[in-house]
Amino acid sequence: MKPLILAMALVLAVPLPAQAHPRQPRDLRELAQQTGIRIGTAVDVASLRDEADYRKVLNREFSHVTAENAMKWESVEPERGTYTWQDADAVVANALRHDQKIRGHNLVWHNQLPAWLTTGVENGTIGDAELRDILRDHIMTEARRYRGKIRAWDVVNEVVDDDGNLRQSIWLTHLGPGYIADAFRWAHRADPHAKLYLNDYNIEWNTAKIETTYTLIKDLKAQGVPIHGIGFQGHLGIQYDYPGDWPAVMRRFADLGLEVAVTEMDVRMVLPVTPEKLATQADYYRRALSGCLSVSACREFTVWGFTDRHSWVPGWFDGEGAACLFDENYAPKPAYQALLSVKRG
Ligand code: G3I
Repeated sequence: MKPLILAMALVLAVPLPAQAHPRQPRDLRELAQQTGIRIGTAVDVASLRDEADYRKVLNREFSHVTAENAMKWESVEPERGTYTWQDADAVVANALRHDQKIRGHNLVWHNQLPAWLTTGVENGTIGDAELRDILRDHIMTEARRYRGKIRAWDVVNEVVDDDGNLRQSIWLTHLGPGYIADAFRWAHRADPHAKLYLNDYNIEWNTAKIETTYTLIKDLKAQGVPIHGIGFQGHLGIQYDYPGDWPAVMRRFADLGLEVAVTEMDVRMVLPVTPEKLATQADYYRRALSGCLSVSACREFTVWGFTDRHSWVPGWFDGEGAACLFDENYAPKPAYQALLSVKRG
């Protein structure tokens, strides 16, 4: 054999290390394994119970889950002192059966509060000191119930508004800004191993919101408050420019010593759906996952529902929809294929 041909034959004969060029993953679970993060979805309990197709795709594709509504206060304590854990328990049980890590969502929010609580505060039958006790009991009861089962809790959700002020809510008005530190401390006491997150939307790009959130977290860390992560919800729309600075924002928070996650990703569009819009949507999903993978502190990439059959978007944005990775019939969309093509580094 001539030397050149021999050299070529040797090169061809040496197998590439398996890690260097992993084959295209078969599904999102395999993608998650190859890239070393978890890929998750919000779970709608009614669909989990009623639809075999929903369960099939959920459990085949996803290695992390968040209850879309079932762990919120109005769901778990609709009447004062009466706890209804069935829906939240169903999400947790399904996750444990299918090797899915769990994000608890959420412990403190200004939305989806039970009427007994908001009415009691409004009409003054619940005073400020009692309100603080109620919040502490809620956080500790829920975090204790799922102690050891929740990888990460969204302890406070959306506490900064779009102008960069602490959000007006019954919590801020009646308890003062210290409720945020208290919430993290109580959650930590109830479940010392869960990663405790602040979770918000528009912090992918809104400078005022980013700066206030940054200062808030820096102060919490300086006080020794147990906060471990920041969740970027990632509710995007293709009619808006892609937030290109997002990875840099993630890095800034990671430099505070935080873990980072994409917690509620979806990409809506003005209907009707066209192939061009689906291609743009695919690009937004691809860039979001690549961005997360470019930041070593980014551990989780969760979408807010995986099928256009069950998405919050059409109910909230008139004339918009089709925001998910699968269509109404559970067929994968270009965005799904785009995610599978993403590689780390
Ligand atoms: O519980 C009632 C049910 O009894 C009734 O039959 C039904 C009829 O419409 O409504 C049910 O309540 C709905 C609830 O979802 C549960 O399905 C509410 O009307 C509806 O407003 C509520 O929307 C949820 C929304 O949060 C509320 O703020 C969405 O499903 C949920 O996707 C959305 O999730 C939020 C995250 O928690 C935080 N970040 C933003 C994200 C999107 O808004």
